[in-house]
Amino acid sequence: MSKKRVLSCIQPTGEIHLGNYFGAVKNWVKLQDEYSCVYGVVDLHAMTMPYDPKVLKENTFRMVVELLACGIDPEKSILFVQSLVPQHTELAWVFNCVTSYGELSRMTQFKDKTELLQSKSKKAIISTGLFTYPVLQAADILVYNADFVPVGKDQEQHLELTRNIAVRFNKQFGVYFNEPEPLFTEIPKLMSLADPTKKMSKSLGEKHYIGLFEEEAKIRKKVRSAVTDTGDTPEGVMSPGVDNLFNLLKACGKVDAVESFTTDHNSGTLRYKDLKDATADALEELINPFRSKKEQLLNDRAYVEGIMKEHSQKAAEIADETLHNVKRLTGMFDIR
Ligand code: TRP
Repeated sequence: MSKKRVLSCIQPTGEIHLGNYFGAVKNWVKLQDEYSCVYGVVDLHAMTMPYDPKVLKENTFRMVVELLACGIDPEKSILFVQSLVPQHTELAWVFNCVTSYGELSRMTQFKDKTELLQSKSKKAIISTGLFTYPVLQAADILVYNADFVPVGKDQEQHLELTRNIAVRFNKQFGVYFNEPEPLFTEIPKLMSLADPTKKMSKSLGEKHYIGLFEEEAKIRKKVRSAVTDTGDTPEGVMSPGVDNLFNLLKACGKVDAVESFTTDHNSGTLRYKDLKDATADALEELINPFRSKKEQLLNDRAYVEGIMKEHSQKAAEIADETLHNVKRLTGMFDIR
């Protein structure tokens, strides 16, 4: 029996951080053994917000490097670059024509990003690309007729739209697409090291997050300076900063250490320095191999570009089959 197909994509928005890794990429790596996986770096989606062409191109390349460094295996999975597979945009047009203006207006991500842009500048241009972003995402998924889509809960609405588009297309033109199922990934709640009341995110600034390929000295410094007690936590409750260090240690798989530090915490003998040292050690153990693999790949640009090209071609072969069928069903010429 052939394996079920998993598809997921990530935007090339700069270096992968711990949140992306534990929330998505780690799971992508695991899924490779059980499913036929197709993973994409979606550069066209990154064009929906203001961007710099040079930076986008370099980030796309680096995202491919980083995914390979994390363990996406080119022998097992397909790793494509969206702009190298033109079938995505071709299918997106067809889907634009079965998607209503109303349902796109209700997308919370669109509303949030619009607000963000307008808060930065009153004259900000809210592009049609941003508006139809979820339609392109539906095309990313359905062009491969994916069975499962591993995503965070924040993508639930986009997955729901994807399923609606599949159903609507099938009703209107004849049954062709599956309704893909989301695989919601359990995301450990990692908070900012410098302000543990806020979610760890790159947008807060350098001190607040840990990059997945960061230098050891920097990681150690960030962990050492992490906020622990803020002074306003009630007796018997773990302060958010300490809780966050525990979560980091746990995310790194150090279950025994978490247990023994928890015992220390409960008996009031926990030394924050020990907890911090153990957390920094665990992070370095995790990150060290990623860092060296990334270095190695960055020094072999031709190899990485070769993967981008070959894998995007493999993706395009699958996608092309879909487009032939879509053209047949929707009344387009398909002269091969
Ligand atoms: N919108 C997704 C995000 O921001 C990225 C994405 C684009 C995606 N196309 C996709 C995710 C297809 C899963 C499947 O995270």
